[in-house]
Amino acid sequence: MMNSKDSKFSDQEKAKFFAAQKAAKEFIYDGFVVGVGTGSTVKYFIQQLGELVDKNELEIITIPSSAETHLELVKAGLPVSTLLEYPEINIYVDGADIITKDYVMIKGGGGALTLEKIIARASQEFLVIADSSKYPRDLLSYPVPVEIIKQAIITVLQPIFNLGGELQLRYGSGKKGPVITDNGNIIGDITFKQEYNPFNMEMNLNNIAGIVENGLFPSDADKIIIGKKNNAKLIKRDS
Ligand code: A5P
Repeated sequence: MMNSKDSKFSDQEKAKFFAAQKAAKEFIYDGFVVGVGTGSTVKYFIQQLGELVDKNELEIITIPSSAETHLELVKAGLPVSTLLEYPEINIYVDGADIITKDYVMIKGGGGALTLEKIIARASQEFLVIADSSKYPRDLLSYPVPVEIIKQAIITVLQPIFNLGGELQLRYGSGKKGPVITDNGNIIGDITFKQEYNPFNMEMNLNNIAGIVENGLFPSDADKIIIGKKNNAKLIKRDS
């Protein structure tokens, strides 16, 4: 994988690498149960953890937030378990799609938001790793992903509209039809045109029958590491 001086990688990839490296080297301790998020930044984190465990410098158990991450953890030779065995997690490390100046996050670009939120909220600490394109961003610059029960994809439309949003089902490649989550549900993205309160909106969306979870994480981040092309900085520590 990446060597940080490798010129074939873009500045953004280097920034993801440096954020992930700082997280693995400075915030993960022996004996930890580590929740592992989903996405391209987290892949570098998994790579770093794999190297530390391989060199016998670290002994941990990991809890994946998605099928994709589960596979990556196995490939990296890391011990994997579940929330059933380890409902208490020392630290959850994950990326974000955007982070506002007030540290409100939107997640779910990878479609894994439900288990991500469950693990994040079962963890003593949530450490966010992201490149500098993700922060600071306006809340309206990214749609809010939602996981929806298949039978409800029509009935949720009007209640979402009543909250000021417009739902679009997410389509991927490699399969006809909307993207199906690891939980067998449908993923959609809600666009808002007017400012909204993320704390209220998180609750209001989850009150709609058929919505399983949404990608608003208004006050979940305890620590945030932002990577740049040459280094990474901790921009938020627990308040
Ligand atoms: C996955 O469902 C998301 O919540 C990710 O955390 C988010 O999309 C960040 O991914 P990248 O690190 O690939 O930007």
